[in-house]
Amino acid sequence: LDVSDPIAFSAMQSARDAFANTRWHATPLTAPNAPDGSAYQGKAAKGYAGPVTEMRNPARHNDIVGSVTDASTDDVTAAIAAAAASNWGQTPVGMRTASLRAAADLYETHSAELFALLAREAGKSWSDAIAEVREAVDFLRYYADQAERLPLASALGPIAAISPWNFPLAIFTGQIAGALVAGNPVLAKPAPQTPLIAFRAIQLLHEAGIPADALQLLPGGGEVGTALTANPAIAGVVFTGSLPTARRIDHTMATHLAPTAPLVAETGGLNAMIVDSTALPEQAVRDIITSAFQSAGQRCSALRILYLQEDAAERTIEMLKGAMDELALGDPWTLAHDVGPVIDEAARTKIQAHIDSYARAGKLIHQLKAPTGGTYVAPTVLEVNSITDLTEEIFGPVLHIALFKADQIDAVIADINASGYGLTFGMHTRISSRVAAVSRAIRAGNIYINRNQIGAAVGSQPFGGEGLSGTGPKAGGPHYVPRFTTAPGPTDSA
Ligand code: SER
Repeated sequence: LDVSDPIAFSAMQSARDAFANTRWHATPLTAPNAPDGSAYQGKAAKGYAGPVTEMRNPARHNDIVGSVTDASTDDVTAAIAAAAASNWGQTPVGMRTASLRAAADLYETHSAELFALLAREAGKSWSDAIAEVREAVDFLRYYADQAERLPLASALGPIAAISPWNFPLAIFTGQIAGALVAGNPVLAKPAPQTPLIAFRAIQLLHEAGIPADALQLLPGGGEVGTALTANPAIAGVVFTGSLPTARRIDHTMATHLAPTAPLVAETGGLNAMIVDSTALPEQAVRDIITSAFQSAGQRCSALRILYLQEDAAERTIEMLKGAMDELALGDPWTLAHDVGPVIDEAARTKIQAHIDSYARAGKLIHQLKAPTGGTYVAPTVLEVNSITDLTEEIFGPVLHIALFKADQIDAVIADINASGYGLTFGMHTRISSRVAAVSRAIRAGNIYINRNQIGAAVGSQPFGGEGLSGTGPKAGGPHYVPRFTTAPGPTDSA
C-alpha cells in the first residue's frame, strides 16, 4: 500500500472506521419503478419479483455485507421500454460529459465507502481497491474528454452492459461511461457476486445528473442477462467476462437482435510470459509474482503460463519459491495480507480441482497454505510441457511453468499464438533485437517488456485482446466511445 498517497490513505482509514459493519441492500434501479421519478433512494420500489440473496464477504464468511433483490424478467422488459423512450440521445454532449465528471467527483468523495465495498464484497486488497476506484474515476474523465474531442455520430439506442465481478467498479463504470457519453441509454447488469457496489455506483451516477431512464440497474444472473440480450429493442451489448458466456451472448444476439447491433466483448486469456537467460532474475521474479498472484490471479490480464529458458530455470524457480513463501495470505481487511480470497465457492472448487489433478500427476512445483474462514486458494505453481496442455483459462492464483531451450523460442511463440487467445504477453530479456522480433511476432493486445503484465492504465495503455480474447475496441483507448455510435471507425483526431 502506498501510504504516501494521503487522500487514499485517509479514505482507507475512514473506510475501516465507518464501514466495517455496514450492511447494504441492492435492488433494481429502473425508471418505471423509481419512487417519484427518482431512482436513487435506495428503496425497493414496488414490483420487483426476483429472488433475494444474502451477500457474504469471500474473505470472512461470517461477515454479512448485505443483500440483493434481483430483477425479474418483467423488470427487464419494463426497463428496456423506458430506456427506448428516453431522450438521453438528444441531450447536448456537454451535458453528458458534465454528468460523467460530476460522477467522478462523487466517486472520489465517497471513496471510503467504495473501498470498503470492494474489500468486503469482492475480497479486494486495499491497494487493489484504491487502484480500482482510481481506474473508475479515470474512465469517467477519459471518456468525457474523448466525447468532447472526437466527432461523434448518432447514438445507437439502449445498450446492455454486462460486467464481471473481478473489477466490479472499474469495468462496470467504464462500460457504462463509454456507452452513455455517446448518447445511449444503458441497462447495466452487474455480476451476481457484486451487486452492492454496482448499486452504490448507480446511485452516485444518478446523483451526478444522469436521468433514471438513461441508466438503469438490473441485478441478477443468467436469466436477467438472457432477457436483456434477447430483447429486440437492445441496440448493442458490451460484455466483459468468460469466453463461453461471450459465445452464448453472441448466439442470443444473432437470433433476436438487429444484425447491426454490435457486441463489444472482452473475454479471457491464456497469458504467457517468456523469461530468457539474459533476464535479471530478481526483477523477473518480482514481476512474475505480481502478474500471477496479485488480486489472487483474478484478472483477465494475469500471467497463466511462464516460459523459462532452461539455462536460467533452476535459479529462477528457486528464487520464485522463496519469494512466494514471503507472501501473506488472508483477509485483506486487516491490511497485513498480499493475497486475498477467490470470489466464491464455485470458483474455489473449480480452481482446486485443476490443482488437484496436476498434483496427482506429480506436476506440483510449489504451493503455499490456504487460510480458513473464506474461499481461499493457495498460490500454486504447476509444471506443464507447453501452453497446449492448457485447455481453458484457470481464473485464480495458479501459475504454470514450461521450459524451453535457446533455439526453441520461435516454436514457443508459435504455440502461444496457436492457442487462439491474445490478451496480455510479457517478456523479460536484455536482447534488444529479441524485444523487437518477439513483439512483432506475438499476437496479443497488450505486450509488456521487463515489467509485470497487469494493471493497464486508462488513456495511456488501452486494454483489450485479439482472437478469442475479445472483439475490441480496447477499453480506455480512443476507439472505444465511437464504437457506441453509428459511425464507429477510427477518426483523424483519434
Ligand atoms: N485492466 C486490467 C489489467 O490490466 C484487466 O484485468 O490488469
